Amino acid sequence: MARLVMVSNRVIDFNAAQQAGGVGVAIYNTLAQQSGFWFGWDGQIDDDPSSEPKSTTVGGHTTVTLPLTAADYNDYYLGYSNSVLWPVFHNRLDLAQFEAGYYSRYVEVNEKFARNLAPLIEPDDVIWVHDYHLLPMALELRKLGIENPIGYFLHIPVGPAQALLAIPENKEIARALGAFDLIGVQTQSDVRNLIDFLQQSVAGRLLPSGRIRVFEAELEIGCFPVGIDPNDFAFGPGEAEALAATETGDIHRIIGIDRLDYTKGLPQKFKSYGKFLEAYPEYRRRIVLSQFAPPTRESVEAYADIKAELESLAGSINGLYGELDWVPINYIHRTIPRSELRDIYRTSRIGWVTPLMDGMNLVAKEYISCQDPADPGVLILSKFAGAADQLQDAVQVNPYDLGDLVQGLRTALEMPLDERQARQKKLMGVVRKSDSNAWGRGYFEALSKAGQRRASRLAKSPEMRKALERLQGEAKKNGRDGRIALNVGT
Ligand code: G6P
Repeated sequence: MARLVMVSNRVIDFNAAQQAGGVGVAIYNTLAQQSGFWFGWDGQIDDDPSSEPKSTTVGGHTTVTLPLTAADYNDYYLGYSNSVLWPVFHNRLDLAQFEAGYYSRYVEVNEKFARNLAPLIEPDDVIWVHDYHLLPMALELRKLGIENPIGYFLHIPVGPAQALLAIPENKEIARALGAFDLIGVQTQSDVRNLIDFLQQSVAGRLLPSGRIRVFEAELEIGCFPVGIDPNDFAFGPGEAEALAATETGDIHRIIGIDRLDYTKGLPQKFKSYGKFLEAYPEYRRRIVLSQFAPPTRESVEAYADIKAELESLAGSINGLYGELDWVPINYIHRTIPRSELRDIYRTSRIGWVTPLMDGMNLVAKEYISCQDPADPGVLILSKFAGAADQLQDAVQVNPYDLGDLVQGLRTALEMPLDERQARQKKLMGVVRKSDSNAWGRGYFEALSKAGQRRASRLAKSPEMRKALERLQGEAKKNGRDGRIALNVGT
C-alpha cells in the first residue's frame, strides 16, 4: 500500500503525555492505520539558518519536524495564519489584520517546508496537507517536481465568498488551491462557499464532471466530516461503575471545553447562563458551569481582549449569584489533561458547545461518546458548528440569540430520561459510523483516485504538462531546488 505523508503546521509530540485534541488526534489515528510519516513544525523557535529537519520514531510512528525562526513565528503563524486567514475564514473580517509582510513570509515558510519535504517523497506516496497554515503547499511542491497525489483538508469553516474576497492576496490563494488534487472540507456549506469563492476570485469554472477548473488545473472538492475514535474514550470493566460511586450530591455539572478563542461564543454562553439563573432561580445551587478555556495564540490582540472579557463576566456572575457554599461558574483557564476528559464528560449532565462558527467541533462528539446509555447527559450544540449537520439529535441552539441559549439550557436540564436515552442512541450511532477511521480511509481513497485522474489528464494534455513545466522552471530560476538528504522509515 502507498505510504501516507501527513503535513500539518503542528505535529503531535508522541513523547508528550498530554496530547493535543482535535485535529492532531484525527491525524494521529489515521496515520496509525498505515505506513508513512508526519511532517511539520516541531513547536520550537530557532533562528539558526542551518537547522535541519529532525526525524523521530516513537512506537512505530515517525515524525519529521523543523523549527520556525522568530520572524516566521510572528509573520507566518501569528500573522498571516492567525490574524488574517483564521478570522476571515470564520467570517470575522472586523478582526483581520492585513499587515504588509505577513503574506510573503507565509509563502516563504511554505516554500521552506516544501523544500525540506520534497527529498523525502517516494514515487507512490500520497501527500495529505492539513489546514490554513499550508494553503500554498501543493503549489510549492509542484514547483519542485512533485507529481504525487496531493490533497488538502481544511479543518476550519469556509466563510462566505465575500469575506474571502477581502483578502488582498485572494487570487494567489485561489491559484495555489488549484495545485491540489482534492480539497476536503467539513460540510456541504463549506463546499458551496469554496466553489463560490473560486468562481468569483479567479473565474473558476464548475465542469460537468463536478470538478472546478482553476487556470490550467482541475480541482475536486468534497465534504468529509472529521470524527473521533470512540474507543479512545471507552470504559474498561468496572471503571464506569467505580466512577458512578464517586459522584456526589444533586448538583448537575454543565461542561464547556473550548480553546479561549473569539469564535467559540464564550461571552454569549456566560451571559445566557447569568440570564438563566436570573429567570429560573429554582436552579440556583442545583447546577454549576465548569468552563475550561485553555489559552491559545496569546500574543494576538483579539485573544487578549476575549480573555479579559470572560474574566469580568465570570466574576460578575459569581459575584451576583454565588453563595458561601456554591459558585455558579467554575472558570478554568488552562488545558485539561486528555486522560481526565473521559471522566469529566461522563459526570457532566450537559455538554454545552456553542461556537459562533466552527469547522466541526470534536468536543461535541467526545462528549457523546462518554455518556452512559442508561442515564445519558444532553448535548447542547450550536447550529453553526460543522457537527450540527450530523448531530441532529442534539439540542440545537442559535448562539447569537441569548434567549434561545437560555431555553436550550432549560430544555436540556428538564429532558426526561426516555428522551435522553433515545437521543443518545441516535447520536452515538452517528459518532461511531463517522469515526476518525472512516474519515481517514474515505479521504485517502478519494485522494488516491483524484490523483490517478489527474495523472491521466496530465498524460493526455500537453497544455497541462506545459503549465507544470513553467512552474518548475520558475522555481529553478529562483534557485529553489536545493535538496537535502534524510532517511525516513516507513
Ligand atoms: C484549531 C483548529 C485547527 C487548527 C488548530 C491550530 O484547533 O480547529 O484547525 O489546526 O486550531 O491550533 P494552534 O494551537 O496550532 O494555533
